[in-house]
Amino acid sequence: MNITVAGSGYVGLVTGVCLAELGHRVICSDIQEEKIAMLQSGRSPIYEPGLEDLLEKNLQCGNLHFTTNPQYAYEDAEIIFIAVGTPEQQDGTANLTYVCEVAHSIAHFMKHDVIICTKSTVPVGTNDQIAEIIQRQKPVNLHAEVVANPEFLREGSAVVDFFYGDRIVIGTNCSKAATTIEQIYLPLGIPIIKTDIKSAEMIKYAANAFLATKISFINEIATICEKVGANIDEVTKGIGKDERIGPYFLQAGIGYGGSCFPKDTKALVQLAGNMQHSFDLLQAVIEVNTRQASLPVVKAKELIGSLKGKKVALLGLSFKPNTDDVREAASLVIVKELLKEGAIITAYDPIAIPNAQHVLGNTIEYTQDIRLALLHADVAIIATEWEEIKQLSLDSYELYMKNPIVIDGRNCYSLKEIRKHPMTYISIGRPIVI
Ligand code: UGA
Repeated sequence: MNITVAGSGYVGLVTGVCLAELGHRVICSDIQEEKIAMLQSGRSPIYEPGLEDLLEKNLQCGNLHFTTNPQYAYEDAEIIFIAVGTPEQQDGTANLTYVCEVAHSIAHFMKHDVIICTKSTVPVGTNDQIAEIIQRQKPVNLHAEVVANPEFLREGSAVVDFFYGDRIVIGTNCSKAATTIEQIYLPLGIPIIKTDIKSAEMIKYAANAFLATKISFINEIATICEKVGANIDEVTKGIGKDERIGPYFLQAGIGYGGSCFPKDTKALVQLAGNMQHSFDLLQAVIEVNTRQASLPVVKAKELIGSLKGKKVALLGLSFKPNTDDVREAASLVIVKELLKEGAIITAYDPIAIPNAQHVLGNTIEYTQDIRLALLHADVAIIATEWEEIKQLSLDSYELYMKNPIVIDGRNCYSLKEIRKHPMTYISIGRPIVI
């Protein structure tokens, strides 16, 4: 089919490249000239395992095209996926300007009947708004149907998630449009849930809010474990075996970050508020998460007192491993708090340094060599569970630091291994090792 993906950001690019891999003729559009030029030359502006190989392959075989020209993007498309950003506004609501602009543009340039599929995470009711815009402005002889098709891709494993996801949600009141979109996904063999538009919109928010709730819940249990002398690893194992709870998203740590959970939880609280419902539970989830990010600095101060002039090795900058994305990363909060205390920071990350530099500038030092970060450090703080950090020989802490104090915000090491080494080790929800 002729498919256009409006927006070549994270979701749009992965969707477009993977749909081309399924054999469709795909045009990915974007307003950023620089990004499109880079993509046309086969390079991906985001770090995502497996993406660049598929990008090059499908560019070469002619399935995949990139453009900044909306007319070229929309006039021949049978299906248009909307995957533009919905950034958080100051009051926590999603900014729908880009989504609405795409709707106006589709209505203006469309030359055939078209199905518009919304991938961007949008508040309940937005797809009706999109349908209204298009209905009002499209040529009268043409037909446009709107489908809510939220995505569940995770950064760092988005390509795998596209091909092996848990479910695909197709929300529309038009059975013909549902069948056409179903045909696109059928080769993947992933369970398909067909539903109405509003329920599809709600599924996306509810899924992210529930996962965020699991994380804040286990982090609260971890805090209590510390106080009563229990071990969160044992507790997680014990509750995760219960199939009704499940073992996933129970990794205690310094909280969730990224471009989705923080934004979507706030947007859902706001949405509930607009309906005169106070979503207290989710509000508490957000508050717990805000507190978690500062924990390493709180713990460091409790242990050594003033951090003024102390040299801190910050290990990991991205919001999670396998991505260079630092949006809403716990590391940013840690840096802010440490600088307030007068500490001197050297940060290590295998790939996120350029993105971190955009936010933090020269307020800290950066290195891609863990050993250089650790050299003469008073304290090491682990903010991201990169494999490079988990695989680091524990001898390195002794070797490079004065008197190793490690505050592990992601519980990277087993306490059994740690106990074999002379170091002070503080993690989340587990006994302190001195
Ligand atoms: C999340 C969802 O998992 C995707 O299904 C969804 O499509 C996406 O948001 C989105 O809305 O676009 P992502 O933000 O890429 O994906 O990352 P996750 O792997 O879900 O991790 C989110 C955060 O939770 C990370 O900061 C991670 O460190 C933290 N986390 C995750 C924990 O603290 N503990 C856990 O047990 C799991």
